[in-house]
Amino acid sequence: MVNMDILKDNVGKKAADLIKDGQIVGLGTGSTTHYFIRYLGERIKNEELNILGIPTSYQSLIKAREAGINTTTLDEYDIDIAVDGADEVNPTLDLIKGGGAAHTLEKLVDSSAKKFVVIVDESKVVEELGKFPVPLEIIPEALRVVKDTLVDLGGKPELRMGIQKDGPVITDNGNFILDTKFDKIRNPHKLEKELNIIPGVLENGIFAGLADKVIIGKMSAIEEIDR
Ligand code: A5P
Repeated sequence: MVNMDILKDNVGKKAADLIKDGQIVGLGTGSTTHYFIRYLGERIKNEELNILGIPTSYQSLIKAREAGINTTTLDEYDIDIAVDGADEVNPTLDLIKGGGAAHTLEKLVDSSAKKFVVIVDESKVVEELGKFPVPLEIIPEALRVVKDTLVDLGGKPELRMGIQKDGPVITDNGNFILDTKFDKIRNPHKLEKELNIIPGVLENGIFAGLADKVIIGKMSAIEEIDR
């Protein structure tokens, strides 16, 4: 295992240990949450826990099935706790998410949870958000006009392209992703709102003020920060 994988493994296990019998659990997306989902599956099996997961993507649905976690939907249950990764975390626990193009459902699930826990390795911790471009999920018809608006707002939008697919990445919801670099994000709350009122934008990857707890995997130790 390379170092980052060890850190992700550590925080995934730490978060899985937080889950209590009988809880409904939001299952985040991304490589860090895979460890969480795997450890949660092991706990369910070993301790015979009664837990249901609510996935935030097809990827986390598949991982949940592999781990033996039964799943349900937000229409049927409220979420007790959601555990998710992030691409950047600042000192006030605001996040950029969506590196895996799943931020729309992630924001719905994470914001619906009574408690939202973020798990990251230390490479994700920043003083100011914005080195990582903000992903925006947009409906395909809105590509040109949303790009123009983002440029007017000082952003540099780029259509995310597929790696093992020709043409643009298509999200789980059938949409495009515009990765948008902003020089500095001084006020994440404000930018999050400004981006979401652009017609054609479904959701952006800034999660300001949502996280209740961040668990950071460091080479030296695990750090836990509560809001
Ligand atoms: C998915 O769209 C993202 O929000 C992920 O949660 C985020 O990119 C973190 O992923 P990793 O754990 O793979 O870094």
